[in-house]
Amino acid sequence: MKPRVICHMMSSLDGRTILKRWGHAPNTQAYEATAATYEADAWMCGRVTMETDFTKGRAPDLQPVSAPLDRADFVADYTGGSFAIAVDAHGKLGWQSAYIDDDHIIAVLSEQVSDEYLAYLQRQGVSYLFGGRTEIDFAHVLDKLGALFPIRTLLLEGGGHLNGSLLRAGLVDELSLLLYPVVDGAASSAAVFEQGDAPGPATRFELLSQEPREHGVLWGRYRVARPE
Ligand SMILES: NC(=O)c1ccc[n+]([C@@H]2O[C@H](COP(=O)([O-])OP(=O)(O)OC[C@H]3O[C@@H](n4cnc5c(N)ncnc54)[C@H](OP(=O)(O)O)[C@@H]3O)[C@@H](O)[C@H]2O)c1
Repeated sequence: MKPRVICHMMSSLDGRTILKRWGHAPNTQAYEATAATYEADAWMCGRVTMETDFTKGRAPDLQPVSAPLDRADFVADYTGGSFAIAVDAHGKLGWQSAYIDDDHIIAVLSEQVSDEYLAYLQRQGVSYLFGGRTEIDFAHVLDKLGALFPIRTLLLEGGGHLNGSLLRAGLVDELSLLLYPVVDGAASSAAVFEQGDAPGPATRFELLSQEPREHGVLWGRYRVARPE
């Protein structure tokens, strides 16, 4: 059973998403407060966001293994019912614990990751599942997340490249967008949904609600317009 996917992001008026360019602002608080209103079971981020905001570029502590490891999904012992999901196809992230705050970490990997990295995740008590041999099939990943864990609602929290991958695969149900009153202007700053040089067709959304928040932020909630 696929979880419902709500993409939750803050962007500048010109659709950019690298907050640190906007100066010291109370933007993270608004982001977390509005995310909490969804009471989601899980949140998911791309490898770059996890590395930038959580593992801070730490390398995994890899040790030699005595025998090859199966490419079988691994559900670690965990406590609580909330999850932080990291899309890390190549096994680059260095976790120091199996939790971000109280959220149990689940790594989404490709089968190309090394045995040493799998052994490392098991030692850390981090759960992992395979999304494909070389490429990640996100429909399959969502099915597994719903089957292996009590995840019914998932916040997709960037960055723009990961968001673009799920949108293109038709897996985003809703968008929760905090529009921050600044124009960024940097082409190097990822947009909310990046799709590279060969984008899919445009995706139409329907407005569900709009709400002014503190500090001039406008919170818009949308759902993907399904063809009639
Ligand atoms: N404004 C906001 O609300 C908000 C929210 C979140 C993040 N951010 C910011 O966004 C920035 C990072 O965004 P980003 O778009 O550059 O990176 P990202 O989406 O966080 O991560 C991209 C990486 O995730 C993995 N990935 C994404 N799609 C994949 C796919 N289809 N298949 C396999 N792997 C895939 C790849 O990792 P590999 O390269 O390892 O293969 C890819 O390089 C950070 O500065 C962060 O702070 C802003």
